[in-house]
Amino acid sequence: MTASIILGTGSYTPDKIITNDDMSKIVDTSDEWIKTRTGIRQRRFAADNETTSDMALQAASKAILNAGIEKNSIDCIIFATMTPDMPFPSSACILQHKMGLPNVTAFDIQAACSGFIYALNLANTMILSKQYKTILIIGAEKLSSILDFEDRTTCVLFGDGASAAILTESNDSNIGILHTDTGADGETPELLHQPAGGSAIPPSIDSLNNRLHFLKMNGKEIFKKAVRVMGQSCVKSLEACNLTSEDIDLVIPHQANMRIIESLAKRLEIPLDKFHNNLDLYGNTSAASIGIALDEAIQANRIKKGDRILLVAFGAGLTWGSQIIQW
Ligand code: ACO
Repeated sequence: MTASIILGTGSYTPDKIITNDDMSKIVDTSDEWIKTRTGIRQRRFAADNETTSDMALQAASKAILNAGIEKNSIDCIIFATMTPDMPFPSSACILQHKMGLPNVTAFDIQAACSGFIYALNLANTMILSKQYKTILIIGAEKLSSILDFEDRTTCVLFGDGASAAILTESNDSNIGILHTDTGADGETPELLHQPAGGSAIPPSIDSLNNRLHFLKMNGKEIFKKAVRVMGQSCVKSLEACNLTSEDIDLVIPHQANMRIIESLAKRLEIPLDKFHNNLDLYGNTSAASIGIALDEAIQANRIKKGDRILLVAFGAGLTWGSQIIQW
């Protein structure tokens, strides 16, 4: 039997650091408010001419290096993002060309902040089906390109960045991705959305004047749902693997809000020091967030052979997912 294992990861965050004090010069906010309500101290913003696929290219190059593979062994690219370079063609195709991988299957998926887990799950099933052997997974976002810098309730929360993982087949079915739980609830898309730019509200002078191309969010409602669905999803994944919270060595949660992570830790009865967090440095980087934290944890030697890792995310849609990986 075949399993899928993560051979290597990589991440990239732009050079430009924007502190909470910098944000307070743009909107009516303060370092104190942002830190206590979210845990964020700073975020990175991409340069004006730096695209989502440019950042993905940097993360992908590091992942290939860390995996110790030839780039030509990649037979598919799955790119999770809600801020693609353009509506079409896909950022995956743009990245494929930048990487010099002609003819390799490449496509985007859109599951907002759950994108990295959705992509890993998809890649896993594609590998298990034996149609593909080595898949490059990307989670990358240039959220600064859709933030409304007149809306203090959203613009202070997000940042830019990219992450990558190389998933490949292994004959040892005791390691790799053990289980994934994903789900979605499309009943209330307005809780977190970018209203204009698609077929519902094509770009127009009105859509621009009404600021409909920016991210809009009902933070309070998202917060409540996030804690509930992330907890439920983790329990489902643990039960599917016949594991308990105590069997988990490290949790890599989506980095949206420290209070959400603390509530989740309490709900799962997993001590907070078993969570890898970097929210203070990067803010919420949506689809990039889990991959950046995973890469950071690996580089910091927080993950060793035999460890059981729990990934968990939620995002616009709403979407959610959790995944247990045996390292
Ligand atoms: N600076 C100062 N004051 C602010 C700011 C700010 N940046 N933003 C809001 N406030 C004010 C509000 O206006 C309000 O003032 P009022 O009481 O006078 O009306 C007060 O602070 C409290 O606002 P709340 O919205 O109640 O603050 P809350 O404690 O709920 O925190 C937050 C807001 C941080 C957004 C929280 O609800 C949250 O994190 N929600 C989850 C959001 C999230 O994770 N989204 C990502 C989803 S993932 C994806 O798919 C991208």
